[in-house]
This record gives sequence, C-alpha cells and structure tokens, in this order.
Amino acid sequence: MYEPTPEDRFTFGLWTVGWQARDPFGDATRAPLDPVESVHRLAELGAYGVTFHDDDLLATEPDRDRAVAAFRKALAETGLKVPMATTNLFTHPVFKDGAFTSNDRDVRRHAIRKVIRNLDLAAELGATTYVCWGGREGAESDAAKDIRSALARYKEAMDVLASYVIDKGYDIRFAIEPKPNEPRGDILLPTIGHALAFINSLEHPEMVGLNPEVGHEQMAGLNFVHGIAQALWHGKLFHIDLNGQHGPRYDQDLVFGHGDVKSAFFLVDLLEHGGYDGPRHFDYKPPRTEDAADVWVSAAANMRTYLILKEKAAAFRADPEVREAMAASRVSELAVPTLAPGETYDDLLSEEAPDASRGYHFSRLNQLAIEHLLGVR
Ligand code: GCO
Ligand code: MN
Ligand code: MN
Ligand code: MN
Repeated sequence: MYEPTPEDRFTFGLWTVGWQARDPFGDATRAPLDPVESVHRLAELGAYGVTFHDDDLLATEPDRDRAVAAFRKALAETGLKVPMATTNLFTHPVFKDGAFTSNDRDVRRHAIRKVIRNLDLAAELGATTYVCWGGREGAESDAAKDIRSALARYKEAMDVLASYVIDKGYDIRFAIEPKPNEPRGDILLPTIGHALAFINSLEHPEMVGLNPEVGHEQMAGLNFVHGIAQALWHGKLFHIDLNGQHGPRYDQDLVFGHGDVKSAFFLVDLLEHGGYDGPRHFDYKPPRTEDAADVWVSAAANMRTYLILKEKAAAFRADPEVREAMAASRVSELAVPTLAPGETYDDLLSEEAPDASRGYHFSRLNQLAIEHLLGVR
C-alpha cells in the first residue's frame, strides 16, 4: 500500500536529498552526498527520475567529465530518467547581483554561457524541461535596480536561450520558477501571475511555461491550488515543485504535505483530475536535524504522502454524498456558459434579478472534504 513505482512519475532534485543543511546561521550538518548514491537510493525507493543543477553533479567529484560519466552509469544501471535540468545561477559570488539581470554586463554574458553549457548536457541526458529559477534576479533597494531594464535583460536572455534550443534542434521547453523573495530581498517574477505576463512578452512564448513551487506562492500568501489551476488553464504548467510551507515566512522547503496539508489534498486532486501529465517533482529539503539515514526516510515520505492524498482525493470524488453535495452547491453549473448558443446581451438585459436568498451549501461540502482528509469517511 502506498508503495511508489516509476509509473507514478516521482522525481527529485539531486540538490534536495544532497542538501548539506548549511543555513544562514549554521554550518552543514551532513556530509556531501555522491550523486551516484542518490540515483541508486532514489531508484530503490521507487522514484522515476532525478533532476539536477549543473553544479550538483560536482558534489563529490570536481572533474566534470568524470562526474558526468559516473552519473550516466548510475542512470543506466537503475533506469532512472532525467526529465528536467537547471542551472545554478545563485551560489557563486559572481551572481551576487543576479545573473541574467545583473547590473554588470559581463556577468550577464557569463550567466547565459553557463546555461548554454548545461543545456547541451540536459539534451544529451534526455531532459525535455529546463527550469529557470532566478533566485538572485532581484534587489534589496529600489534605488539599485532599474526594474524595467532588468525585465528587458531577462527577456533578452530567455530569447537568446530559446533561439539556441531551436538552432540545436533540442526537444526542450523552458519553465520559469517564480519566488517572491529569498535569497534577494525581492525577486523578479515573484508569482505565477507575474511570470505568466512576462512569458507573453517573449519572442517564443510557446517554448516557455512555468515551474511553480508550493512554498513559493504560499510565502506570498497566495492560494497555490488556484495558481496551478490558472497555469493549467493557460497551458503553462510545464513542471511543478512539490513541497511544504507554513504560510508567509522564510522558504521552508518542507516534505510535501508537512505544511498546509489541506491545500496539498486539493492540489493532488487537481493534478490527478486536471490534466497535468508531467513528473511529480519534489523540491524539498531534509530538515537540518536529520542525519544521513533520515534523508531517505524524508524522501520516501514525500511520495507516500502524495499517494495517500491521491487515494483520498479519488475516494472524495467517488463518495455519493460528496457528489450530491457538489450538485447541491451547483459546482458543475459553473462550466455552463453564461450565455446560451445564439444568445446576445440583449437576451439577458430583459431578465429579472435572481433570488438572492438561495444558499450555496459550501460548508457541508468543505466538511466532507475535511472528513475524507482526516480519514473518518
Ligand atoms: C528554492 C528554489 C530552488 C529551485 C532550484 C531550481 O527553494 O528556493 O525552489 O530549489 O527550485 O534551485 O533552480
Ligand atoms: Mn523553495
Ligand atoms: Mn529553497
Ligand atoms: Mn524549487
């Protein structure tokens, strides 16, 4: 029961299980993890794939060619896939004022070069999604950065990268990951909505979508399920970062479901019934308190929680009382167009106002969801 298999399409970033738990106040509490070990462990746990930043591959082997060869060998031995890759444009001091949007033009050129180099490896390993998380693209002072120019440079970088992918003939789409703040005081493209609007101004908008992260929208006080629904509605949910967060505060990157579990329930319901067919990617951090063995317990917990919520969401939808409550709340009526075929505004101008006293009975429906989640139904 709740045993993950590759068919569930669970994936993990190498940087998640490999996080050494260094934070702004304390040193690492865990030793570096060899990506080869991560690949084997994740495969044993039932994952489908791994994802990586260029620099993650060098965690224990500084020679890039040797590191890539060992990684490839581990992938071949386990059958693990690499559906997504990304670039570290935030750790090295050269990126302290951003990468694509640094005030320093040389840094911007260096950043694009770093992405291009890893795009080649991503394509070789079969990745079809390339994530761009602009962690350092931002500012602490409104005097320091001309935001309109920064957005122009962000667009320029995305346009250059899209043309590179087209010229090379790679089967790769980009996914922008919004985040409101941390490590910068304020980050550009802070939410799903900001990023969607930005994508529309690109030269190849069809090649660029989103990689929203649970905790990042919740840091901004937003409803993640609504954000994902809107991304799906625009055809822009290219990838997703699943984790947990307790409301607006620092980025917690908790195990999936270990934050707002009710939101996690409705999220799984949406992903399973809303037409998303990409990987279920976990971008969490094993807490700093955890030892080398605990890391794998926490990794497994993400997948187990997802599968439990998937089962609960299906049971919720199949429950005859829930169906009846949904009908009473007129949930499906919202799918009916407001004007019938052939009608115009003239047809509604003549109508009477509806009865305002009619209730929607949402409390009953919500309680049924809570009871399914709590396991009493
Ligand atoms: C965060 C971010 C990162 C990015 C990752 C991909 O937690 O602040 O989610 O984990 O997803 O670096 O570039
Ligand atoms: Mn995060
Ligand atoms: Mn994080
Ligand atoms: Mn993320």
